[in-house]
Amino acid sequence: LDNGLMRTPPMGWLAWERFRCDIDCDHDPKNCISENLFMDMADRLAEDGWRELGYVYVNIDDCWSSMERDANGRLQADPKRFPNGIPHLARYVHDRGLKLGIYGDFGTHTCGGYPGTTLDKIQTDAQTFADWGIDMLKLDGCYSNATEQEKGYPLMSQALNATGRPIGYSCSWPAYQGGLPPKVNYTQLGEICNLWRNYGDIQDSWSSVLNIADWFFTNQDILQPAAGPGRWNDPDMLVIGDFGLSFDQSQTQMALWAIMAAPLFMSNDLRSIDARSRTILQNKGLIYINQDPLGIQGRRLIKEQSGVEVFWRPLSNDASALVFFSRREDMPYRYQTSLKKLNYTAGVYQAYDVYQEKLLPAFKDSTDFVVSINPSGVVMWFVVPTKQMMGDGKL
Ligand code: GLA
Repeated sequence: LDNGLMRTPPMGWLAWERFRCDIDCDHDPKNCISENLFMDMADRLAEDGWRELGYVYVNIDDCWSSMERDANGRLQADPKRFPNGIPHLARYVHDRGLKLGIYGDFGTHTCGGYPGTTLDKIQTDAQTFADWGIDMLKLDGCYSNATEQEKGYPLMSQALNATGRPIGYSCSWPAYQGGLPPKVNYTQLGEICNLWRNYGDIQDSWSSVLNIADWFFTNQDILQPAAGPGRWNDPDMLVIGDFGLSFDQSQTQMALWAIMAAPLFMSNDLRSIDARSRTILQNKGLIYINQDPLGIQGRRLIKEQSGVEVFWRPLSNDASALVFFSRREDMPYRYQTSLKKLNYTAGVYQAYDVYQEKLLPAFKDSTDFVVSINPSGVVMWFVVPTKQMMGDGKL
């Protein structure tokens, strides 16, 4: 969507995967969906180095609203859990140099059973969000049918635009259409949405991360051309820092999401995140690759019998990113290849190992090399033709 927003994949924090629909503030005050949770996360984003790296969105998901609209038919926040209201929360977030996202659902109800946005409510809700100072809307699609969605998703795009407030627009529409043509029209999506959920919800597990990555790369011929500045495929949140992924699996999620030019929305507890997870999420090389201004989504180049896969993303200034991934379950696997075998032809290259934060000596595209890839882990390289990388290996 050419609304000037999200020219690189949006980054921030989103409540859903980690905090779900916990509304029990009496017994679980630290974790329930309430203004306190979003203020806590805004504080952490602003004070713990996240904001400077680009993680600027603080996004509310389902279960924030009251069960009833107000007397004027407008959505309202749950008064007990958001006693100061959303405009106050928006000011709090903006005061810290951050942006506030909210969740709605095109349909009679949200997926969690809260009031939805039906066709007759689209303008009202868009205006309410703009009045409140909202910066991004995720519009889910529970409790509406295909015919209604055909009207509703474009209408909300127009309604948001008509408010005059820049509001990033995340559409769950294609996920409800099965993610693929002919039902999904990716040209149209790119015109009306800034990002879209194509596939099922991520869960806090390696099998879920792998399942999502497999779907996106299996369908890359369709999905890859759909992405670009202002229009992104969204394979869903980062679950790094939660309970389900090992260290190597966390590195893999971050690497594959960077290759995919995916939005980087963490869903974790930034108040207690462990140091190693933070290092992965705050890796500057990874973020630099994810945020490359060309905005070209990467692809899987190779799927070996051995369980090794190679992914590639072209970047600005003739640079590129490579990810060597192993789905093996035995021991670090020594994978041998050459840049020539990966379609590189410019002669001599330098590679920077993004996780090791080390510059490797220059080598010829025809020279075989070996990378040692941990089980369910990755090796990730930033590659440039020689003379383009600064001597110290900094990007
Ligand atoms: C759907 C969405 C999730 C989340 C929940 C909320 O399942 O795909 O991302 O927003 O609804 O109920």
